[in-house]
Amino acid sequence: MITPENEAAGGPERLEDGDEVGRVIVSEADLQARIVELGDRITADYAESPPLLVGVLKGAFMFMSDLSRAVALPVDVDFMAVSSYGSATRTSGVVRIVKDLDMDLADRHVLVVEDIVDSGLTLSYLQRYLLARSPASLEVCALLVKEGQQRTELDLRYVGFHIPAEFVVGYGLDVDERLRNLKAIHAYAGSLS
Ligand code: IMP
Ligand code: MG
Repeated sequence: MITPENEAAGGPERLEDGDEVGRVIVSEADLQARIVELGDRITADYAESPPLLVGVLKGAFMFMSDLSRAVALPVDVDFMAVSSYGSATRTSGVVRIVKDLDMDLADRHVLVVEDIVDSGLTLSYLQRYLLARSPASLEVCALLVKEGQQRTELDLRYVGFHIPAEFVVGYGLDVDERLRNLKAIHAYAGSLS
């Protein structure tokens, strides 16, 4: 918001300049370039059978928006929202479905679009949940995978970037619901509870 006070100081402070926003882990340009590559691969792999993209809210909303436009096929899009019990920054692996899918998965080629895989427990739960709905196939496209954190064996067909095991924000990812609208992935520089 432009107020008389900040206008005098040259405009509102940019989100990127806040104390909590640390160094860039994946730049906006690298994100966009990689999403084009992922979109091309998905377009080739699913040419005969356009997938149903299932985005996991809220973190994947921005990735879903860009990835879906990078796929040159008539895809369908649906979302589910899950919340994992545990602290703000650590999952317990117990997942609650907050919003279920609107679409029937039977005989559909389903591609789950995830923001980040940390322990992998959320995704592992989701895969079991979705497989029970009898899709024709089920694959995962994860934008980010944290190195060395996975506590379960996961089969990830498409991965954007492997990143160091630190807490990150931006491009959909939050800390306590904040900082999702940063254009790049940044390290979180505030204090974690
Ligand atoms: P997992 O079950 O440990 O793999 O955690 C998965 C979920 O935790 C993700 O879908 C995110 O919502 C959240 N998460 C894990 N790491 C981060 C992070 O570094 N920043 C923001 N959210 C994260
Ligand atoms: Mg989250």
